[in-house]
Amino acid sequence: MGLFAIETWGCQMNVHDSEKMAGALCRLGYRPTEDLRQADLILLNTCAIREKASHKVYTRLGRLRRLKERNPHLLIGVAGCVAQLEGEAIFRRAPYVDLVLGPRGLSALPELLKKARERRSAHLKPLEDSLTYPFETAVRTHQVKAYVTVMEGCDKRCTFCVVPATRGKEEYRPLQHVLQEIRFLVEKGYAEVELLGQNVNTYRSGETDFAGLLQAVDAIDGIKRIRFTTSHPLHFDDAIIDTMAAGRNICPSVHLPVQSGSNRILRLMRRGYTRERFLDRVQRIRSTVPGCTLTTDIIVGFPGEDEEDFQQTLALLDEVRFERLFSFLFSPRPRTPAEKLSIGSSLAVRQERLARLQARQQEIQEEIHTGKVGERIPVLVEGKARTGEGVFVGRSPGNQLVHFPGHEGMVGRILPIEVSSCTPNALYGAVARDL
Ligand code: SAH
Ligand code: F3S
Repeated sequence: MGLFAIETWGCQMNVHDSEKMAGALCRLGYRPTEDLRQADLILLNTCAIREKASHKVYTRLGRLRRLKERNPHLLIGVAGCVAQLEGEAIFRRAPYVDLVLGPRGLSALPELLKKARERRSAHLKPLEDSLTYPFETAVRTHQVKAYVTVMEGCDKRCTFCVVPATRGKEEYRPLQHVLQEIRFLVEKGYAEVELLGQNVNTYRSGETDFAGLLQAVDAIDGIKRIRFTTSHPLHFDDAIIDTMAAGRNICPSVHLPVQSGSNRILRLMRRGYTRERFLDRVQRIRSTVPGCTLTTDIIVGFPGEDEEDFQQTLALLDEVRFERLFSFLFSPRPRTPAEKLSIGSSLAVRQERLARLQARQQEIQEEIHTGKVGERIPVLVEGKARTGEGVFVGRSPGNQLVHFPGHEGMVGRILPIEVSSCTPNALYGAVARDL
């Protein structure tokens, strides 16, 4: 049939959607290629979360256009959140694009490809089966860890966020379907599963809530590690925390995006919680799940943020001491309430705040990691590191990256690593000898 290549931007949901698309293409008889010049189909699975992410898509498309001049049979497709947001306008801005596919229209891909051979076509409707898609067919990129969709969409309306406009309303995957997939993955030899959803902890299926889902997944024998992302602080209830504490294989690690440390800004963002409520959740997690690591997202320069608000965000970093921070400058997005608000501070001021925030976080990470030197950590080995010959990489239960000398036979096993040095972003060590 031909060769395909998929380029993926953005979050884990996108990575997993690309795995599902690759599966659909393989079923149609396509084969993957790394060499774009050979490809008959190139799909960009795009991210719209910030303006920069959207721009990158058009820059990339501009480059791909040249391949099309050389190979007139080449089909170029845009999938994911930019596809949903821009819709058929993509054809006007980039007339050499052949197909446009929204993030919940995956199963329309074969039909769309057929049509695209004759004329440009778009599919932007969310399809019912976006949650019951045949999981066996996904072509997974990791060897050790597998993503599992448990819900789609987001019913929140954070004033800065484009996700509700691109991924639609919340829908939950039936419990039995999730469990079936995880049993299948265990049989295939995956050691870790990561449950995915934009608001993963609002999950429900019949009587089962997210805590119930975690318990059901944890009851399956053969999984070594269970993770989940992204959790919303408002819905991180005691039942989830108690389930994590009592679990057999649920990793003590939570990604809990706070966005700001100022109540005034949290209200303007419409996040639905206060700084105090967030800190209460952190305290409850830390006192119930020993050693639980916390990571977060922060937006700097939300419209109206002043130095006082920013100081509260900085102070929150010191109070919580997150293991890792993903921080962004506010970016106005179409179809969001914050799009038209006046930002109120200059770009230079905002950039300087972001730099201060990141510098403080680097210090905190360095301190946390230095405290781990000398410890012995059970590391699930993921594969070769990119950093050097014979270096392997894995993760601690708390999701910290750990590098050590290793070999292929270690991949997929949990090994005790003795930490000997660190940087703010990783730990380094060697397999403990006396075991
Ligand atoms: N559902 C998750 C993740 C949303 S997107 C949540 O509840 O937080 C991932 C991160 O991108 C967000 O947590 C936020 O920090 C950042 N982000 C989203 N919209 C943004 C915008 N308009 N400008 C800058 N950062 C943004
Ligand atoms: Fe976005 Fe807020 Fe939902 S950040 S994904 S609208 S919880």
